[in-house]
Amino acid sequence: MSSDRKMRLGAFLMAGGHHIAAWRHPQAHAQAGVDIDHFIELARIAERGKFDMLFVEDAAAIRERNPEMASQAARSTAFEPLSLLAALAVNTSHIGLVATASTTYNEPYGLSRTFASLDQLSGGRAGWNLVTSASELEAENFASSGLRPHSERYERAEEFADAALALWDGVDDGAYFPDGGAQFADRARLHPVHRRGKHFTVEGLLESPRSAQGRPIMVQAGASDVGKELAARTADVVFAASQTLAEAQAYYADVKSRLAKYGRKPDDIKIMPGISPIVGATEAEAKAKYRVLQELIPDAVGVALLASYLSIQDLSAYPLDGPLPDMPQTNLIQSRQQLIIDLGKRENLSIRELARHFAGARGHWQVAGTPAQIADAMEERFSEGAADGFNVMAPLFPSGLEEFVAHVVPELRRRGLFREDYEGRTLRQNLGLGALIKR
Ligand SMILES: Cc1cc2nc3c(=O)[nH]c(=O)nc-3n(C[C@H](O)[C@H](O)[C@H](O)COP(=O)(O)O)c2cc1C
Repeated sequence: MSSDRKMRLGAFLMAGGHHIAAWRHPQAHAQAGVDIDHFIELARIAERGKFDMLFVEDAAAIRERNPEMASQAARSTAFEPLSLLAALAVNTSHIGLVATASTTYNEPYGLSRTFASLDQLSGGRAGWNLVTSASELEAENFASSGLRPHSERYERAEEFADAALALWDGVDDGAYFPDGGAQFADRARLHPVHRRGKHFTVEGLLESPRSAQGRPIMVQAGASDVGKELAARTADVVFAASQTLAEAQAYYADVKSRLAKYGRKPDDIKIMPGISPIVGATEAEAKAKYRVLQELIPDAVGVALLASYLSIQDLSAYPLDGPLPDMPQTNLIQSRQQLIIDLGKRENLSIRELARHFAGARGHWQVAGTPAQIADAMEERFSEGAADGFNVMAPLFPSGLEEFVAHVVPELRRRGLFREDYEGRTLRQNLGLGALIKR
C-alpha cells in the first residue's frame, strides 16, 4: 500500500450518543434526536475536523416493541435521514452526507430521485447506505406477510441497486443547456431506462441533471456472503462491524478479493469499520468515563438489546450469569449474530457481561484511552490490512465528537495518516475514489 495513503473518516450521527445509556448521562440532551440545531452543531464539528462524511442510520419503525424497554432507551425519537441531511447540506460546505435507506421498503425510481436531489442540492456530496432492513418491527409497518427471508431481501436489493445506477447513469454530463441556450436538453445525452425485472418495473428518466460527482456514492453494510458480494459489485464504501484485528483483516481481505471478478480494483472500495472512541487525557480518565456510561445501563435494557440483535424473544429465560445458549441462525443481521456468539466464546462472557459490552456500541469496536493510544489502535488497523478508514461513533454527543476532533484528529495528522484539508468539493473526490466509470 502506498505510504501517502490517507485514512477516511465518517461521523456516525445518533441523537445523544451511540452508547445505549448516553441519554441518562448528566450532560445528556433529552430532545437531541429531533433537535436540528444539535445536528447542525455535530455536522460543523465533523466538518471542522475535515471528516469525509456524516453517516445516518435508519429503520422505518420504533426500535423496541416492549414499552417498558422503549421507555428506557433513547432511540425512539429521530429525524428521517434524508430530510435531516438536506437540512445539514445547507449548513455545511464540504462534508459528505450519507443516508441509510432500505431496498425492501422503497421503489428504485422514488428513492433514486430523492438521492439525486440530495446530490444536486449539496453540490455532489450525497451517499446512500443501501440496506436490506432486518427489523421485524419495520416489516410490520409495510408488509402483511412479515419480514421477508434474508435471501429474498438481497435478491430485491441486487435488482434495486442496478435500477438505481441505471437511472443515475441515464443522464450524461452536459445533457442540459448543451449549447448555452439554443436547446434545453440534448436528447442524445438522455438514456431512458427500460427495466422489467422480477421485483421492479422502471421506464423512464430522472428529472435531475447529473450531479457534480456524477451520482451519489454507494455505501453498504451487509456482511453475510451475499451482502459482501453485492458490496463488491456495487459499493464505493463498506461499513463494517468487527471486534478484533484478525476479524477485521479477514473481512477486509474477503471483500477486496471479490472485486476483481467485477473488473474493479481493491482501492475502488473503502472499507470503514465502526469505532467507538472514549478519549481521556490519561488512560485512567478514559476508562473512568467509560465506566460512568456503563454504570448507567439497566441490565434489562442491555439484555433486551442483545436479544433483539440475536433475534431471541426471551433471553431472560436463561441464567444471566451463565453463557449464551446455542441458537439457530437469525433471519436478521446474520453477521452481527455471529460477532456476538464469537465475542461471548472468545472472552468467556456471561449473558450479563456480553449484554453490557454490546450496549456500548452495538457490537462495534470500542477503544478507551489517550489520543495517542486511540491513534495507535486506528493506525494498526489501517496499516495492517484491516481498514481504509473508520466510521466514528462517539459514545456521547457533542462532547465525544468534539474531543475526537480536538485531540485524536491532530494526532492522526502528525502521523501523516489524515488530511490537513479537503481535497475537493464532492464526496467522491474527498474519498479518493477517482473518476467515475459509468456502468
Ligand atoms: C455495520 C452494519 C450497519 C447496518 N446498518 C443498518 C441500518 O442502519 N439500517 C438497517 O435497516 N440495516 C442496517 N444493517 C443491516 C443490513 O442492511 C442487512 O439487512 C443485514 O446486515 C443483513 O445482512 P447481512 O446478514 O448481510 O449482514 C446494518 C448492517 C451492518 C453489518
